[in-house]
Amino acid sequence: MKRLVAPSILAGNHARLAESLAVVEATPGAEWIHLDIMDGHFVPNLTFGPQTIKDLRPDSKLFFDVHLMLSRPDQYIEAFIDAGAQNVTIHTEPDYDHLATLKRIRELGSQCGICINPGTPVEDLLPYLDHVDLVLLMTVQPGFGGQSFRTDVLPKIETVAKWRVDKGYQWRIEVDGGVDANTGQDCLKAGADTFVAGTAFFKNPDKPAFVASLQG
Ligand code: DX5
Ligand code: ZN
Repeated sequence: MKRLVAPSILAGNHARLAESLAVVEATPGAEWIHLDIMDGHFVPNLTFGPQTIKDLRPDSKLFFDVHLMLSRPDQYIEAFIDAGAQNVTIHTEPDYDHLATLKRIRELGSQCGICINPGTPVEDLLPYLDHVDLVLLMTVQPGFGGQSFRTDVLPKIETVAKWRVDKGYQWRIEVDGGVDANTGQDCLKAGADTFVAGTAFFKNPDKPAFVASLQG
């Protein structure tokens, strides 16, 4: 599995999102951008919506990895894919039809991911593993950038990586929250291949070296 760093635009200046995108685009090796959508309900923060993604889309060749932290992601799938999302990740925790939503994401031509928070049992992912392109393990409680990495999630990464080997799954294992050069290496050793990095990317004076350190 090719390793990827997905810088999270959450850590950039939100009045200058296009500039943040250009910074990522100009970083050798960077292919993905991670876009965090928060509804102030599933998580205690708000970010931006499909219109912002739509307006950013023509400026960029990056792969748009959209992380929906919403109580009802099922109501917004079409809007985000129309806007240019290429992967849409949804959480197991809220109450809606998860499988139908994953199916809908693929029908509309996007890849799909399933995500759990640090406090959610890893087994909650099991019903979705045949239906996704990506499994996202939150390594902080979602809502804000710049939090400390939760080392207690590392065994979950190992579990998911073992499932992938045992069953021959092809999905990516993505980690999100507090991922920097050091914690990223821990995730890599545990079996992750896709590293979301907000603060550690945007505040890094040597972005190419940071990306290379995780992508190999
Ligand atoms: C957290 C978001 C993350 C966030 C990560 O709720 O899902 O994608 O941007 O930011 P850092 O890397 O600063 O922890
Ligand atoms: Zn995220």
